[in-house]
Amino acid sequence: MLCGSSHERKVPTLKICTTIAEARAACREARTANRRLGLVPTMGALHAGHLSLVRAAKAQCEAVAVSIFVNPTQFGPSEDFAKYPRSFESDCAALEKENVDLIFAPSAQEMYPAGDTTWVVVEGLGDRLDGHSRPGHFRGVTTVVSKLFHAIEPDAAYFGQKDAAQVAIIRRMVQDLRFPIEIVSCPIIREPDGLAMSSRNVYLSAEDRRRALVLNGALRCVEREFVAGQRDVVKLRDAGYTILTRDPEIRVDYFEIVDPDTLEPIERIAGKTLVAVAAYVGTTRLIDNMVLHP
Ligand code: PAJ
Repeated sequence: MLCGSSHERKVPTLKICTTIAEARAACREARTANRRLGLVPTMGALHAGHLSLVRAAKAQCEAVAVSIFVNPTQFGPSEDFAKYPRSFESDCAALEKENVDLIFAPSAQEMYPAGDTTWVVVEGLGDRLDGHSRPGHFRGVTTVVSKLFHAIEPDAAYFGQKDAAQVAIIRRMVQDLRFPIEIVSCPIIREPDGLAMSSRNVYLSAEDRRRALVLNGALRCVEREFVAGQRDVVKLRDAGYTILTRDPEIRVDYFEIVDPDTLEPIERIAGKTLVAVAAYVGTTRLIDNMVLHP
């Protein structure tokens, strides 16, 4: 199936694959003649954050594939899988404009045929931060990302620093399973007022949208204290936490200062450090983070 672009305009044809066999064949072909293939895994409902990953991939690879799959196994039973925003047509149009070569948009049945019992689990890291508050979440992520890696066989895969724990866990998985894939992490893209872009921002009412700024506000407060010389993690955490908890409508899930690779808590900042927050704004769970460099 082809989406749009005519040969007259000399725009590369965007191919949409729905089966693993089809995607694997198309990607193997794309990688011939030493073309570097980049993969951008997504769950669709694309925004400028996703497109920044596509552009990073386009800058470094001759061929780019984007997967669009709302992965059921990374959602908990009471989470938003059913209502997660889906906008396949406009996603395709946006990716066509970016001159993406291939979209892989499988069904749940294609990714998880009845009878499958194999999971990919990164122990330790997979239970920290979001993995702690969303049990099984990272098992779903690492399993689907492994399946995507096997289907597409990319040379490089692009992930957003917005999901800092996800990046750390995927790096660990790639290292442990010796996937011959470079993991590239790209900066967080924000709205002009500082809110990190997220497919879930569409859930926010106007009032919650305003409230949501407190996540970034808390991180920036920690950054200011850090720049002023504070290195004590308890004090830094308290400073951010105080900002976050001022509004009773915000429910903090976690506010942690950790090692960005192991996600383990640290006591004093000596090296690169991840400050990560997750909070419910109304019923919407949002995440944000910042990396401090001493
Ligand atoms: P999704 O939430 O659709 O995000 C796809 C990719 O876009 C992730 O790597 C995410 O970190 C990145 N991204 C999201 N918002 C961003 C922002 N504001 N700035 C920069 N990058 C941003 O993450 C997932 O999907 C899934 O867990 C997936 C990896 C596809 C596995 O199902």
